[in-house]
Amino acid sequence: MEEILKVENLTKVYKVKAGFFRKKDFYALKGVSLNLKKGEILCIVGESGSGKSTLGKIILRLEKPTEGKVLYKDKDIFKWGKEYTRRVSVVFQDPRSSLNPRMKVKEILEEPLIVHRIKNRQEKITDALEKVHLEEELLEKRPLQLSGGQAQRVAIARAIILEPEIVVADEPTASLDVSIQEEILELFTELNKKGLSFIFITHDIRVVEKIADRVAVIYAGVLMELGKKEAVLKNPKHPYTMFLLENVPVKHPRERRKELKIEEEEYEIPDKGCPFYPRCSYATDECKKIFRRVDLNGRFVACNLY
Ligand SMILES: Nc1ncnc2c1ncn2[C@@H]1O[C@H](COP(=O)(O)OP(=O)(O)O)[C@@H](O)[C@H]1O
Ligand SMILES: [Mg+2]
Repeated sequence: MEEILKVENLTKVYKVKAGFFRKKDFYALKGVSLNLKKGEILCIVGESGSGKSTLGKIILRLEKPTEGKVLYKDKDIFKWGKEYTRRVSVVFQDPRSSLNPRMKVKEILEEPLIVHRIKNRQEKITDALEKVHLEEELLEKRPLQLSGGQAQRVAIARAIILEPEIVVADEPTASLDVSIQEEILELFTELNKKGLSFIFITHDIRVVEKIADRVAVIYAGVLMELGKKEAVLKNPKHPYTMFLLENVPVKHPRERRKELKIEEEEYEIPDKGCPFYPRCSYATDECKKIFRRVDLNGRFVACNLY
């Protein structure tokens, strides 16, 4: 299958406060390489703070990488012009904040068509509404008059209205009720069957189970494991993937905290070696210094166990 998007050795460093005047480097992403094949759903999974959104933002050109690059059809995404935003679009987590509350649904859907000087706008709008299963009468409403599910469908309609090749979806079901989550996942699957490729970001391994073709597991900005969904979920190789699977159901950590009142455990992410070693029951002294990246019959694993 054709690789339409290639992420090569991506590193993102943020300068963060380390005292009154001092700043230090914080690695949100560390040498991440992966690719998206045409027609697939690639899930990016990991706990909150692992760098998933940073990866998504760079792919969307909302952030610049510190090192490394992203290629779309073998050309650096920052060398593409406006055409890139037509071919690669986004659905964010919360439609209530990603949709302008002052605009009618019709205006929301029309905006990208105007920006890209597309003709037959009414036809495109009708077509997009049909694809997300919304009635035309919603066109006159504003986001706050819609249910959460309807609003996310509008956000999806806006994302597909220019007929992109790739959609980056960043936790698109995390703000929705469980029953609605299912419907929206179903909709993504339907759109994928029509040929749309997805980078689908989630902290929820159950979402991965439902929707992914392949899955990339990231922790502290490092790609830990990457492979076909069935293989990774049934036979995880990286201890961190095992940990994620053992902790199903994984809720958003904030909710999990509230419900369970779990005891706080602070893990210092090490600068050197494997970032997971302080939490890893298999860790050896070697893991404090280095970690190997291996290819196990097409499965990428960054771990000294192999
Ligand atoms: N603009 C920024 N400045 C400083 N730190 C940031 C910035 N954006 C993200 N981070 C940090 O980078 C890490 C990864 O963030 P993010 O990519 O949003 O993670 P995720 O989406 O997996 O929850 C977090 O620790 C976050 O606090
Ligand atoms: Mg995020």
